Amino acid sequence: MKKPMPAGYETLSIDIQEVFLSPEELNGRIRALGQAISADYKDRSPVLVGALKGVMCFMADLIRAISIPIEVDFMAISSYSAEARDRGVVRVTKDLDVPIMDRHVIFIEDVVDTGLTLNYLLRSLKTRGPASLEVCTLLSKPTRRLIDIPIKYKGFDLPDYFVVGYGLDYHEKYRNLPFVGIIKPNVLFNKGKGDG
Ligand code: IMP
Ligand code: MG
Repeated sequence: MKKPMPAGYETLSIDIQEVFLSPEELNGRIRALGQAISADYKDRSPVLVGALKGVMCFMADLIRAISIPIEVDFMAISSYSAEARDRGVVRVTKDLDVPIMDRHVIFIEDVVDTGLTLNYLLRSLKTRGPASLEVCTLLSKPTRRLIDIPIKYKGFDLPDYFVVGYGLDYHEKYRNLPFVGIIKPNVLFNKGKGDG
């Protein structure tokens, strides 16, 4: 059964085929993730590193579901080209502000698709000598994975759909929808990946 479209978003959701995750479902799952992180990292004061821009809504809600001391930082990446992206090479347009040497780092992603971007970023972060490095992603598309990456904290598995909302975009649009929605296939021209 289709989930109801939250009222008031009719104009912005004209290109949305279906609500995939409602605000309530997102909220419930993110609370559980926050509690798990709080328990696992008790006394370790982790640094949460978010990948901009897609992660912004997830990060904002996740950190408020965590009840232990943490630090927050962000990285931003963009693609050199579609071809470079396919090789998993991305350009870091904003690097970390805090050093992560000997720190417990949790890398926060909006969605892990092929895993190429994440793999590249994790390799870069590992060279900086963190005490530990784990991944937390809101969404994962397991059937699309090209590189196997251990994901310690995962919100939801997603079939091979292109989704938008709750921070995720298609050509920079739809980030402000309060739910995760599946975009209508006819709207997708070329999947607007690589701008976070
Ligand atoms: P990967 O390198 O293939 O894992 O791609 C990861 C990046 O592609 C994500 O961080 C997003 O920026 C983007 N992306 C992948 N799938 C989606 C989607 O369904 N909606 C919006 N962005 C996506
Ligand atoms: Mg991203």
